[in-house]
Amino acid sequence: MPARLFLSSGDLIADRRFEFARDLQLAGDLVAAADLLEQAAELAPNFASAWFTLAEIRHQLGQRDAAVAAFLEARAADPEDRHGATVWLMRLGAEELSAMPPGYVRTLFDQYAPRFEAVLLGDLDYRAPQLLFKAVVAARVTARRPAFFRRAVDLGCGTGLGARAFAKEVDHFTGIDLSPGMIEKARATGLYAELVTADMVQGLRERPETSADLVLAADAMVYVDDLAPVLAEARRVLAPGGVLAFTVETHDGRGVILGEGLRYAHAASYLRDAVARAELALASLEAASPRIENNEPVRGLVAVATRT
Ligand SMILES: C[S@@+](CC[C@H](N)C(=O)[O-])C[C@H]1O[C@@H](n2cnc3c(N)ncnc32)[C@H](O)[C@@H]1O
Repeated sequence: MPARLFLSSGDLIADRRFEFARDLQLAGDLVAAADLLEQAAELAPNFASAWFTLAEIRHQLGQRDAAVAAFLEARAADPEDRHGATVWLMRLGAEELSAMPPGYVRTLFDQYAPRFEAVLLGDLDYRAPQLLFKAVVAARVTARRPAFFRRAVDLGCGTGLGARAFAKEVDHFTGIDLSPGMIEKARATGLYAELVTADMVQGLRERPETSADLVLAADAMVYVDDLAPVLAEARRVLAPGGVLAFTVETHDGRGVILGEGLRYAHAASYLRDAVARAELALASLEAASPRIENNEPVRGLVAVATRT
């Protein structure tokens, strides 16, 4: 897990109450912790971290409406919504599914960057980049084309595990990621010729047409609800014959949902439609788990599509 975000209220006493409340929360005394957090928020009404933690505790206590009210306060106190109150409001059904706040994703991964690889590779059996690699090689064998790419773009490149998996098959790698902390880790690998700190759709928009042979997104579309804009931009940036490969988490229903892990899950039928609407040809769509969570394999799909 990433380190917990704390945004000081600027009021020493309110901050202290918050710290005591966290100790109580960790010791399991949720009612006393909620009480202290209410006091902290009364002292400092714009104390986003206190509102957010209070909301989580109310949720744990089964007080759904009170949790929603506190999540709304947390968001109002921090318009960037770095804690991700919006994501919880969606999860609790208090708001329609929408895009994740960029400030939340950026902060989450900036906090995560120092421990990301140790946690994902060490504890969560993470393998999205390897799944993409296998799927791309298989698609190229079927298409009787070489699995070698001159220019690749890695969307949501994180610390650079995608470039590591494809290092021998790609000449020039560009990484795009919202999180400066993750970009710094990617830079340290020396595997990327170019790194851009941006939202993936924005980053693609700034690239010339037909300028890439491969576009990858390993475990990054799980932070994107509507795939239409990114698929359309990927198609524009790909040269004819170019390959788009990405992983998603999935579910048995229809459309897109926000899962328990606060990541989106896309149905297979949604993916097929989205790929077709973007005028890409689906080469393969296979079930495969990108990692474990709560000791269970997370259900995932690996998609490979080509620009014809
Ligand atoms: C789970 S990590 C995966 C990183 C890397 N692809 C890997 O396989 O190790 C997801 C990454 O996607 C990035 N991300 C999420 N949403 C994004 C968006 N809309 N635009 C750009 N990057 C995004 C995050 O900052 C994070 O670095």
